[in-house]
Amino acid sequence: MKTYILNEPGDTTHLQISDQPKPRVSGNDVLVRVKAISINPVDVKTRAGKGVYGRLKTLDPIIIGWDIAGIVEETGDQVTGFKAGDEVFGMINFPGHGKAYAEYVSAPARHLALKPANISFEDAAAATLAALTAYQVLVKKAGVQAGDKVLIHAASGGVGHFAAQIANHLGARVTGTSSAQNRDFVLSLGINEHIDYQTNALEKREGYFDFVFDAVGGSTIERSIPLIKSGGTLISIPTGISEAALARAKALNVEAYFYLVESNGDDMIKIADWLATGVIKPTVSKTFPFEDMALAHKAVESGRTIGKVVVYIK
Ligand SMILES: NC(=O)c1ccc[n+]([C@@H]2O[C@H](COP(=O)([O-])OP(=O)(O)OC[C@H]3O[C@@H](n4cnc5c(N)ncnc54)[C@H](OP(=O)(O)O)[C@@H]3O)[C@@H](O)[C@H]2O)c1
Repeated sequence: MKTYILNEPGDTTHLQISDQPKPRVSGNDVLVRVKAISINPVDVKTRAGKGVYGRLKTLDPIIIGWDIAGIVEETGDQVTGFKAGDEVFGMINFPGHGKAYAEYVSAPARHLALKPANISFEDAAAATLAALTAYQVLVKKAGVQAGDKVLIHAASGGVGHFAAQIANHLGARVTGTSSAQNRDFVLSLGINEHIDYQTNALEKREGYFDFVFDAVGGSTIERSIPLIKSGGTLISIPTGISEAALARAKALNVEAYFYLVESNGDDMIKIADWLATGVIKPTVSKTFPFEDMALAHKAVESGRTIGKVVVYIK
């Protein structure tokens, strides 16, 4: 089967197409014929030797990628929830070895859910790591409630566009940031308000928000802490939070921490339900054939993605 292997980290030329044996499945694993793969900033970071590369670097071969949608081809003898022919999707083994950039993936059954019939493979693949992150942060970690004032940074991006829709569904009063160029897209997600991060409009909201979802990092964290009311929370997902920002948060009685998404099939079932019923709708702004993986990486690496970038396999 065709895969992309990463012999050593670097630029997109380090994504090398390679013929590898089709994975064999046993026990609780499911063999999935991959139809679509979503590309995340962590794929790009890992390819470049950052992201989760440190966890993978001793493996050979390294096959990066985590987000798939496809068709079950075979199941291990202990799998009960899936059968050959089922259409499934999920984020596989994150933050471990996902091996998703391949025509076939062996996935733990507990990381998958059935793909709703009314959702394409591309849209389903898009609603894996990014949607799971939004769900786990807003629902499982922050416990956002109706009426909460929620600020979502990078609401135009992969995670942000799901977070905006989920926070809206939870009944929060949602503000989303992006540049002015993506204002209309952010407002089309159904949220209450857009703020252009390139203006100083955010600074007028001191002590206003119950919860800030930070998908940008760095100075955006420092900028956001004063916007949160005493007792409120900030969760950041890009890298971590500086000691200075943590001290500032503590002084203002704001809880601030980093969160890393994890594979979870039960959460995927929730996402599947929301996709089927239209609570969340993925935006796939760019698609590329498997052969153009390097172009897909360049698109994500630009940092200007609207919604998601997806690679398909015919
Ligand atoms: N810890 C975890 O579990 C986890 C999970 C998922 C993602 N992440 C990380 O979270 C980050 C976001 O991921 P993603 O997939 O959503 O990225 P993405 O899709 O590449 O985000 C792109 C979007 O970010 C917006 N943006 C850029 N700079 C901004 C700023 N200063 N303020 C507000 N918006 C800004 C852009 O809008 P404009 O073009 O309008 O500027 C663009 O639409 C990445 O660093 C990723 O690695 C972490």
